[in-house]
Amino acid sequence: MRIPEHDEKQGLYEDAELRIRGLIAGEPDRIARMAGIVAILHGLMPHYYWTGFYRVLGDGLVIGPYQGTVGCGRIAKGRGVCGVAWATGETQVVPDVHAFPGHIACDAASESEIVVPVRDTAGEIVAVFDVDSTLAAAFDDVDRTGLEAIFVAWGE
Ligand code: SME
Repeated sequence: MRIPEHDEKQGLYEDAELRIRGLIAGEPDRIARMAGIVAILHGLMPHYYWTGFYRVLGDGLVIGPYQGTVGCGRIAKGRGVCGVAWATGETQVVPDVHAFPGHIACDAASESEIVVPVRDTAGEIVAVFDVDSTLAAAFDDVDRTGLEAIFVAWGE
């Protein structure tokens, strides 16, 4: 596990976005898109340890496609980093998960995290995309910008 430096990280997100646009163009099903997006990003990014979606279902979040160790299945509204991203509609960049009040530790190896809200074409949040790293402060504005661009473009 390593954190790519700025230019390398930016290049990886450009590569990921191109691949994901190709995937989306050929696949209308939401779960199939999520599965492909996870595989592309998890395979490309050397600082990703756990990569996956939590889907909005009723008044909670339910796990979707992911790669990594076994994730928590359900997250109640407003709980953890994922719940805050959903409730606020804002990307959460957490350099130290131990300092985040209410962080949910599904895997004790996680040190830092980013969670990006995922919207449908009507602007409703339908899921959050969650990445954990075993390295502290693995995520920054390059990750935020790169992931937000992907989820603006995902078209669902
Ligand atoms: N840490 C997250 C929960 C999901 S796991 O990281 C897979 C949170 O606090 O929302």
